[in-house]
Amino acid sequence: MSYTVTLIEGDGIGPEVTRAACRILNAAGAPVEWESVPAGLAGIAAYGKPLPDVVLDSLLRNRVGLKGPLTTPKGTGYSSPNVGLRKGLDLFVGLRPVLSMPGVKTKYENVDLVVLRENTQGLYVGIEHEVTPGTIVTLKVASAEAGARIARWGFEYARNHGRRRITVCHKRRVMPLSDGAFVDAFYDVAKDYPFIQIDQMPVDDVAMELARDPSQFDVLLLENLYGDIISDLCAGLVGGLGVVPGANIGDKCAVFEAVHGTAPDIAGLGAANPLAVLMSGVLMMEHMGEHAVARRVGGAIQKVLSEGKVRTRDLGGTATTDQFSDAIIRSVEEGE
Ligand code: NAI
Repeated sequence: MSYTVTLIEGDGIGPEVTRAACRILNAAGAPVEWESVPAGLAGIAAYGKPLPDVVLDSLLRNRVGLKGPLTTPKGTGYSSPNVGLRKGLDLFVGLRPVLSMPGVKTKYENVDLVVLRENTQGLYVGIEHEVTPGTIVTLKVASAEAGARIARWGFEYARNHGRRRITVCHKRRVMPLSDGAFVDAFYDVAKDYPFIQIDQMPVDDVAMELARDPSQFDVLLLENLYGDIISDLCAGLVGGLGVVPGANIGDKCAVFEAVHGTAPDIAGLGAANPLAVLMSGVLMMEHMGEHAVARRVGGAIQKVLSEGKVRTRDLGGTATTDQFSDAIIRSVEEGE
């Protein structure tokens, strides 16, 4: 049996890294056919907008997609296609597993945590206005319902992935109503999962503790803005945005994507590191229940990185995107 997965190649280095990821996943036996649809600059060229209906239709039909980075065209009146995807498909979960990688030197060697971000509320609803000249109000929106929805998703994720503790992060003392609703919803849902440990921590303390000793955390649950900031902080703990996977997940579909941008400075040079989008592909395989493929590719990535012979430029090597991808495919084949 094979599945159709939506492929958004993206802009800049997007086509180079997504094609590399698809090639590796297929070589490892992923029973996937890719349905390529244009978004970002390619969407504007084909349909006059960065997020054409064909993209949403394809994702809703296939339920799962792999996505490269998209340009947000500035000063053109177009809104961000990334935000459009999250809103249009109600992708309420931002999932970012953060794991130390062998051979990627950082201050910490034992990071293994998951950041879960509520994607739909908080300050990102985009309601702001100028009350009087020079005085601006930006609204932070929180509902108990959205808090409970992401909390329940988090507990289900924890129990299905062997995670033992969820820490809910907040600024409850400053925002007792909005952050209070988020934390209260979390504790309410937690009653259904007595076998998962829970705790809570102000988000500023979380930032400090992450810098001190990230190994103390397991799953972090955060509202939108805190999640945005803390997830990038966590990526920095293991080597940056180039080595962490990401996904935006809703009830109807899930979009897996690298969290880095289009890297216009190296686009077309064959120098891009496909690791982040490939690891997002591995996450996608797990999401689809293709655990053997996920294990095969995950193992090959670990092996190539620990050997340290073939690395792209951003990781201190000289390999091209293709040479790095070939090394991973060789390692997949050797492991069979
Ligand atoms: P960026 O992540 O594209 O680049 C920052 C630096 O990281 C550059 O030096 C780049 O060469 C390097 N880099 C990024 N990915 C790499 C990879 N896979 N391999 C090797 N080096 C890599 O961030 P920047 O420059 O702020 O954004 C460029 C464009 O990307 C903007 O149009 C922005 O809107 C878009 N963007 C899209 C995102 C998405 O679609 N999820 C996320 C972030 C930015």
